[in-house]
Amino acid sequence: MQSVAQKNIDGKLLAKEIEAKVGAAVDRLKTRGVTPRLVSLAVDEEDASFESYMRQRDKACARVGIESSVEKVPLAGGERELNRALARLSGDSTVHGILIKQPLPSGFNEQALLANLDPKKDVEGIHPYNLGLLALGRPRFVPCTALAVMEIIDRFGVEMDGRHIVVLGRSKVVGAPLATMLLQKRSGGNGTVTVCHSRTRDLPSYVRQAEILIAAIGQPEFVRGEWLREGSVVIDVGTHAIDAPDTKKGWKLVGDVHAASALPVVSRMTPVPGGVGPVTTSLLLQATARAASGSEE
Ligand SMILES: NC(=O)c1ccc[n+]([C@@H]2O[C@H](COP(=O)([O-])OP(=O)(O)OC[C@H]3O[C@@H](n4cnc5c(N)ncnc54)[C@H](OP(=O)(O)O)[C@@H]3O)[C@@H](O)[C@H]2O)c1
Repeated sequence: MQSVAQKNIDGKLLAKEIEAKVGAAVDRLKTRGVTPRLVSLAVDEEDASFESYMRQRDKACARVGIESSVEKVPLAGGERELNRALARLSGDSTVHGILIKQPLPSGFNEQALLANLDPKKDVEGIHPYNLGLLALGRPRFVPCTALAVMEIIDRFGVEMDGRHIVVLGRSKVVGAPLATMLLQKRSGGNGTVTVCHSRTRDLPSYVRQAEILIAAIGQPEFVRGEWLREGSVVIDVGTHAIDAPDTKKGWKLVGDVHAASALPVVSRMTPVPGGVGPVTTSLLLQATARAASGSEE
């Protein structure tokens, strides 16, 4: 019988491997006078989780030698000021990667905003041009979380060819691009893909059929072990802080899958934390370094 440790898919290990390669690429860029720079653009609103995410992102950038900063525009400036700031950053040759804080305040038009984003700096892969390239099977920048799942599949040798993969969630940044890649005729793809969402009837009946389950629904510990197929592989994208009075901090991170009931059933599973999250961050660094090397040409 496999132990929990044997079932664990170690995202931290993969993230370290990716960071090491990015660090070396950044060193090479610096010898040619280019320091990769990542800027996050945000409407200035109170948001503790964004601030914490920015601190983590800054630390990760510093580890590999990427410069990072946040640019905030006042909410009172509205869409106009945000559009202007994005256009300016897109035109600034010292900025190589741009992140836009999501969700935008209500009433802001995302598609109009994206018209001001240089697709060559779109390290999150959300620009329609980059999404189009992805759909054509010629990916350039791909949403980092979706790509993190593909990298995990590749690095940990999860056999995909012809297998039934069930993706829970169809968001623009996770479920939809992931389903596109899993379906494509290429290594790591060739899956038989089912995508479920909030209107799916009898979700557990689909989960039960999954040889590989990818959960990205934003619902803490929603998927129960008793729904899962024996021996399936589970990749849990969800990340939620929930109350945990018995811990020192008073809270803990959990995924979309209820790990305690899932672990006895599955053959392999990503933990939360330490699974998809660190790989996502490392791929953002990788995309920024790639953007910087492209802008140098
Ligand atoms: N680890 C990382 O680096 C990372 C990065 C990004 C996101 N995340 C996590 O990944 C999860 C998904 O993120 P997201 O941005 O894709 O979320 P999202 O935009 O809220 O999308 C959630 C998707 O799940 C579906 N859904 C919601 N409740 C459901 C239910 N009860 N049954 C079936 N489907 C349901 C929604 O269906 P509809 O389309 O019908 O509304 C939607 O397609 C979140 O937990 C988020 O925290 C992790």
